[in-house]
Amino acid sequence: MSAVAPALRGDLRWSAADLRRDERYRRTLPAAVLAELHARLREHPDATAATFVWRPAAMPATAAFGADLRNELLNGDGLCLLHGLDALPDEEQRRIAYVALGCALGEPMLQYGRLYPVVDRGASYTTQAVPVSMTNAETCFHTDSSAVGVVPDFVGLLCEEPSAQGGDSLVANALRALDALRAEHPAAVALLEQPWVRDVVTPGVEKTTANLLQNRFPVFAPCDEPGGVLFRYMRYWIEVGQQKAGAPLSDARRLALDLLDEALTRDDHVLRFRLERGDVLWVNNRILAHNRTAYRDTPDNVRRLQRMWVQAPRT
Ligand SMILES: [Fe+2]
Repeated sequence: MSAVAPALRGDLRWSAADLRRDERYRRTLPAAVLAELHARLREHPDATAATFVWRPAAMPATAAFGADLRNELLNGDGLCLLHGLDALPDEEQRRIAYVALGCALGEPMLQYGRLYPVVDRGASYTTQAVPVSMTNAETCFHTDSSAVGVVPDFVGLLCEEPSAQGGDSLVANALRALDALRAEHPAAVALLEQPWVRDVVTPGVEKTTANLLQNRFPVFAPCDEPGGVLFRYMRYWIEVGQQKAGAPLSDARRLALDLLDEALTRDDHVLRFRLERGDVLWVNNRILAHNRTAYRDTPDNVRRLQRMWVQAPRT
């Protein structure tokens, strides 16, 4: 007989009202984890986020916390807003701690490097083939990665500089949106379960017509993971991909995306919060969509996050 699993907080089909009421998605870095991080940083004063080597046996409290967090991300609410990294005074130390947490969750993915800075580079994703992470626009609800073979299980965002003007974080529950659409618009769900071409944006995939035509997959696909559904969506890359493939969206398909966007933005499907300096947001990128409100940088306030993509271990 298997051991009794620890009590699980949360529910993959959370309502935003529940999360707003008890704020169970907020956690603070445990003292034992912080002590391990301090000790590791003292032992390796020259370490950087790029050179940090994860050894779970040397950081058992961090490894245990990562396993607990992974379980919550896969089977609980699917998101965690982690406070407490600001106890580390130095920016590089906070990055190292963040990388350690990502390694404790699973395997960091390297398509954009271990850490990828999310800043406004003055680019527009609607006029250039650049990731939305390089702009200051509201991103619209999406999951990360438009490449068929690249599916980050978890997306992490470490806040290094919050915006004084906008830039709030939004997370929407696509499972609840799907439940609503199944009840109200089954024809739209049938279309969303068909393959859709996505533009090729993620590094490592050559931007050829052949690769574009192969880069097609459903918005909602059945899967064996918790929740039973793999949700992959960024509307803009679908519209561009279908256009480039010579198959612009039909009215029915455009309506299906409109209905999905409406379902994702319903008040009870969306949690909104602010990331402060040292906060880390982890989201399950397979069932939750994320977004941010538009923001404006000033010379004294340049919003900056560090993103990680993490693959969960498969047993
Ligand atoms: Fe994103």
